[in-house]
Amino acid sequence: MTSPIELKHIQGDIVPGFPKKAESFFFFEIENVDAFRRELNKLVPLIATGESVSSDKEAIRHQRQSSSSLLPVAFLNIAFSAKGLKKLGFDPAEAQDDGFTNGQFADAKELGDDLKPSSSDPDWIPEFQKAIDGVLLVAGDSKHSVHRHLRKALALLDGTVKEVLNLFGHVRPGKEDGHEHFGFEDGLSNPVVKDLGTDLSGQGPVNQGVILCGRDGDSISDRPSWALDGSFLAFRLLQQLVPEFDQFLAQNALQVGDPTVNGAELLGARLTGRWKSGAPLALTPLRDDPELAKDPKRNNKFEFNPDSQEACPFAAHVRKMNPRGDILLEEFINPHRVLRRGIQYGPEVSAEERAQNRTDMDRGLLFVSYQSSLRDGFQFLQKSWANPTTFPPGKTQEPGQDPLIGQIVDPDNQGARSMTGANPGDTGSTLDLGFQKWVVAKGGEYFFSPSIPVLRDVFSAGFTIQGEI
Ligand code: HEM
Repeated sequence: MTSPIELKHIQGDIVPGFPKKAESFFFFEIENVDAFRRELNKLVPLIATGESVSSDKEAIRHQRQSSSSLLPVAFLNIAFSAKGLKKLGFDPAEAQDDGFTNGQFADAKELGDDLKPSSSDPDWIPEFQKAIDGVLLVAGDSKHSVHRHLRKALALLDGTVKEVLNLFGHVRPGKEDGHEHFGFEDGLSNPVVKDLGTDLSGQGPVNQGVILCGRDGDSISDRPSWALDGSFLAFRLLQQLVPEFDQFLAQNALQVGDPTVNGAELLGARLTGRWKSGAPLALTPLRDDPELAKDPKRNNKFEFNPDSQEACPFAAHVRKMNPRGDILLEEFINPHRVLRRGIQYGPEVSAEERAQNRTDMDRGLLFVSYQSSLRDGFQFLQKSWANPTTFPPGKTQEPGQDPLIGQIVDPDNQGARSMTGANPGDTGSTLDLGFQKWVVAKGGEYFFSPSIPVLRDVFSAGFTIQGEI
């Protein structure tokens, strides 16, 4: 019988998630396995747990009420790829997740990524095509705190790892803080894990096993003991072509006969399913409502009308990713919910980029999602919901691709994307989204984020627990 879950046993980026202004993803290769396992033992006390992050979040909340400056905080988590686990002496296949075992590069074509094998400019950067054994996630209130904390972690690991790639992300400046680079408020709809948080959204909590392996609701019943209370982490380096996206919106601006409605903004909202403020189109289809957007008790309290795309297109990003109302039973949606913990990277769009409608500087999203099954979580969302033109099913008009992240999966990655329902006045018409994607996958990897007891007692130097949970 497995004892109830304790927050101090899980890594804090999973639940409750790091509060952060900046984050480094330090991808590494393990150089000397025995020495690494010894040093890992010393690193474990530095790892932020669900319990420690929850109390830091509480302290930050109190401090915000009394002053505007941020508490200097920094958090560390660690996760391993299948290659890394193998090096540590474990069989990744025991976890029974093929995506994890084979790695993301092997999955890239099926995800619809453009690998351009013959081109000198492949979308996937070389670092993600090489061996990555693990990642240190270091988040904090500033670049300075993050760098200092990363140096501390690396000092403890004492030369046993080699850097493959260090990606640095940070929130956008000023009032864009919390908004992704296309300008939309992000991080609004994340599931609450049963008994590990308070659900204000009205969507209801998901079973612990949707996010944490070995818990109630996990689709695999015989995980190895090292998987208990761990979670799979899908990392994606997603470049965003912001000037190009904005140019498309301007060129295809909607006309709704109301001069106070900005047609380009309305189109952007219809591609996303929410206004830039975060207000859901399902509740406020023709104009933004920033007050509604800010209210956690109301901003997720909606369902899509399964028979209509008048308020929100079937293919809109948030509708594809959480088809509430389209799929009527929660039990068919909940296994596919994930905890998103990403952060933006890169500079703001410059005046030159705006003027020429072309991206010159790299920017986008360092996407992170946690789930107990990559097959049911990230892979499913991308392959079964975002990419297929027929999802959500059973509609009078074929929905089309998710305009933000949908990709065409064919050997040559040819063809233009399209969707219906973009125009609220003529939902039967098709909008040609063109050949250019505005979100370009530049790489990624699948990792496993183990529980604290497993990191300390199993993966560090010491003994190996055999058997199943
Ligand atoms: C650069 C790429 C992306 C952008 C710009 C983007 C943007 C957004 C925005 C603006 C929202 C609405 C706010 C919120 O609920 O947090 C959202 C929600 C969401 N996104 Fe993305 N996203 C991106 C990539 C992805 C990917 C790769 C996935 C998974 C395959 C994903 C899954 C989701 C999910 C599950 C939701 C919540 C839907 C709901 O529960 O209503 N997103 N995204």
